[in-house]
Amino acid sequence: MEKSETPLLQVENLSVTYKARRGGFIKYTELIHAVRGVSFKAWRGKTLGLVGESGSGKSTIGKAILRLAPLAGGTITYEEETISRLDEKAFMPYRKKIQTIFQDPYASMNPRLPIGSIVSEPLIVHAKEMSKADRLERVADLLDKVGLPRDAINRYPHQFSGGQRQRICIARALSSQPDFIICDECVSALDVSVQAQIVNLLQDLQEEFGITYLFIAHDLAVVEHICHDVLVMEDGVIVEQADSESIYHSPQHPYTRKLLDAVPRMPTIVSVGGAE
Ligand SMILES: Nc1ncnc2c1ncn2[C@@H]1O[C@H](COP(=O)(O)OP(=O)(O)O)[C@@H](O)[C@H]1O
Ligand SMILES: [Mg+2]
Repeated sequence: MEKSETPLLQVENLSVTYKARRGGFIKYTELIHAVRGVSFKAWRGKTLGLVGESGSGKSTIGKAILRLAPLAGGTITYEEETISRLDEKAFMPYRKKIQTIFQDPYASMNPRLPIGSIVSEPLIVHAKEMSKADRLERVADLLDKVGLPRDAINRYPHQFSGGQRQRICIARALSSQPDFIICDECVSALDVSVQAQIVNLLQDLQEEFGITYLFIAHDLAVVEHICHDVLVMEDGVIVEQADSESIYHSPQHPYTRKLLDAVPRMPTIVSVGGAE
């Protein structure tokens, strides 16, 4: 970690409170303190892991960065600009710089649109001046980058596997040339072998473009492989943050140890004899 530099993203004392309408006959409002006083830094070109059980507030942090969750307090600074205080118009450039990839790629694309249109969606919003020919060229390049054939451009989401659809979402996220990508459980629904391919792709793209990732996951095995630093979250609070190596080899907080104990370990195969 180059601590002397300024971080790409800095979150200070962030709190998010949802108001949920409850009740049948007698209605009342319940306040859900999803995130409470969270602070962290994301360094340029690095991957910051965010782990914790379901409901601990991980997605809420991702949403808060993109102003999709109601801030109850704290500040979010991006490239030294306090983005948590901007109005929607002033925030627009950050919707180009910060992209998200979700767990379910199929749910995040319109099944009636061909892949070419899906991947170029951010370009239509953020690069209005681009000609159609340039857009097509960019989309074809992006498909190449994520390991899909160029003729995918004319095909539809249902014609692809889960892993390929996640590659399509990655291409779409890349199309606006973001510096920061929030990967919210983006490999959690994939088979282990496909997970590894997507994680490798994300790492290659990081190396090539210097992208910073906030990598949200409940699976610590994947996080160990891809993350430089890790935040451990429990019930809206960060209980431990350290570099990946320390989290795995000398976890300090009992909750981190509990999460690590839940990671299935592969049995050691002593000898593999005979033909398959
Ligand atoms: N839009 C919402 N309205 C009310 N409560 C919400 C909303 N989104 C999330 N929550 C609640 O906030 C808490 C944190 O949720 P979330 O950030 O999705 O957790 P995670 O991603 O770690 O599973 C949970 O208790 C969840 O039920
Ligand atoms: Mg979530």
